[in-house]
Amino acid sequence: MDSISKHPFIAALSISTAVLTIASLTSTSSSPPPASQPSPLNFLKNLLLSPRYLQISPALLNASPGNKSKWMNLGRWPAPSYAIACESLAIALADALNLQTSDTVLDVGCGRGDSMLLWTAKYDVKTVHGINVDPDEVAHAQSRGLSVHHGSGTDATLLSSPQYSGVTAVVALDCLYHFTPSRRAFFDAVVQHPNKPRLGFTDVVMKEGVKATLGVKMGARIAGVPACNVVTKTELFMNLADAGFKDISIKILSDDEVFGGFANFVRERKSEYKANLVDMGMTEEGVKTLLDKEFSHFDNSARFMDGFGKQTFSYVVVSASQ
Ligand SMILES: C[S@@+](CC[C@H](N)C(=O)[O-])C[C@H]1O[C@@H](n2cnc3c(N)ncnc32)[C@H](O)[C@@H]1O
Repeated sequence: MDSISKHPFIAALSISTAVLTIASLTSTSSSPPPASQPSPLNFLKNLLLSPRYLQISPALLNASPGNKSKWMNLGRWPAPSYAIACESLAIALADALNLQTSDTVLDVGCGRGDSMLLWTAKYDVKTVHGINVDPDEVAHAQSRGLSVHHGSGTDATLLSSPQYSGVTAVVALDCLYHFTPSRRAFFDAVVQHPNKPRLGFTDVVMKEGVKATLGVKMGARIAGVPACNVVTKTELFMNLADAGFKDISIKILSDDEVFGGFANFVRERKSEYKANLVDMGMTEEGVKTLLDKEFSHFDNSARFMDGFGKQTFSYVVVSASQ
């Protein structure tokens, strides 16, 4: 099962893209849309019926000659490649958490395990365990020899189970906004761990002063992101404090470091794929037919990130202790 969780934020925030797209399509409604373009109705239908409507395949994000990584986050930009941008976001998290060689790490929402490899290679941590909710991703991470368990990061019993008794640091890279029933349930699970581990994560918050309108919440729900996870920085701080965390640090990354950088990357990625396929002898029309759906994902996510995403949301790096 390939779930929306691969790039939930891209899809979660798609409602405004949908609105923008519908607005732009309807503004030229005197003539019917070209056959290859979605009609406003079809666009909305697809969006409502398929939470993966705007999801870009992780394989397409990572595919580069010689690249073996399988990252699935928004990255920290500028960077010379997607893998390095993803690694850079992970490093921002690890540095905020002050990851040490003495740490035993529990990586929740570890995807296919690239961050777990980094904690060992760059920070030389003692041990790394992972938990992820998607069985395919878990199988992939396990095939890389990593200790990854299939389950939810909100499962307090799992987080405190004997196999994780030595854990000193819990990390969650670019995933908490997707957690059900809520991100808060994950905080409550972490504080039940007998070791009182430090916590570090990256996340998305609404900019102060922006309202969680029905449109924003609907977009989140359609994409499988619980509306209760759409919070401001202040609310996130309160959630952590209420759960029992202290020494809370929430650092906002600039809009272009994450959203703008990712948008530029996917635009370039699309041009690169097109050029490569045309170079291989495929006609422009053939390329379009082959990758029509994927290219519309690229377009929609780039448009969203540069527009409504940057205006409404901030990307944050968070650390806390207990
Ligand atoms: C955007 S991806 C990030 C993956 C990885 N951390 C990375 O940076 O490449 C979000 C991840 O969160 C996982 N996820 C979503 N809900 C989860 C939950 N309740 N418990 C554990 N993992 C979850 C998804 O399966 C997915 O791997």
